[in-house]
Amino acid sequence: MTTSNRQFAGKIAVVTGAANGIGRAAALAYAREGADVAVLDREADALAETVELVRASGVRAFPRVGDMTKQDEVVETFAAIKRDFGPVDILLNNIGQTARENYSEFWQAKPETLQFVINVSLMTTLMCTRQVVEDMRERRAGKIVSISSDSAMNGDIGTVDYASAKSGVLGFTRALARELGPFKVNVNAICPGPTNTRAMQRIPRDAYERAKNAIPLGELCEPEDIANAAVFLSSVNARFITGQTLMVNGGRVFY
Ligand SMILES: NC(=O)c1ccc[n+]([C@@H]2O[C@H](COP(=O)([O-])OP(=O)(O)OC[C@H]3O[C@@H](n4cnc5c(N)ncnc54)[C@H](O)[C@@H]3O)[C@@H](O)[C@H]2O)c1
Repeated sequence: MTTSNRQFAGKIAVVTGAANGIGRAAALAYAREGADVAVLDREADALAETVELVRASGVRAFPRVGDMTKQDEVVETFAAIKRDFGPVDILLNNIGQTARENYSEFWQAKPETLQFVINVSLMTTLMCTRQVVEDMRERRAGKIVSISSDSAMNGDIGTVDYASAKSGVLGFTRALARELGPFKVNVNAICPGPTNTRAMQRIPRDAYERAKNAIPLGELCEPEDIANAAVFLSSVNARFITGQTLMVNGGRVFY
């Protein structure tokens, strides 16, 4: 298929946290569908690999290295995308993480860890989206998709901070969908379950097996499963879907 026949030909997609895992898979999926893709991350080397893979689909890639928890870097990044690449049609808010090595049950939680997880897993989504909504309203078009987590519903032990942040992403999605509905901008969220990315690959083997066994479909989610859902929610086929949460988790939690 030539670039111009593909469903996102002529569109500009932005993927945050595109250097690894789900973000990279999504950037490649948008590129395969013909979108030009701005890819943001704080890891320059891995981001450069994503850029090469995106360009292999025959589309433009626009890399920006920055920390999206920092308001000035967010503003600068999105201004550069608009100036040098074009107005944003699709935004995939993908940045987020658990407390990882600072993981603890809540009774032992440190305020700085709680703040970090809320910043990275909720505030990045609000701040990045804030940079694109005025143009989307004005152009009366746009797709905003945010990656939450099924931990928001399941309430996994040791993830009070993360579940709070990812539940926040769902509240954000619903309220913003109502605000932007009159402007024909769709706002939706995806809740992955445990997904085969580096975070899951680093956990002890027995914990990995337990996670797998808790999933009715009997395997972990692949980053491409989430990327496919993001492409669908960004497409004309999803034109009447807004404010919704799509669970892509092999049935680990129903919602
Ligand atoms: N992997 C899972 O099991 C799983 C399950 C549910 C939800 N999620 C969510 O999916 C999303 C992607 O997860 P993943 O497993 O692909 O993670 P990952 O760590 O493999 O990739 C996340 C990317 O975001 C980047 N990033 C993180 N903080 C950043 C910041 N402040 N500024 C710029 N870039 C930043 C990282 O450098 C990395 O490249 C996250 O929101 C995560 O919470 C993951």
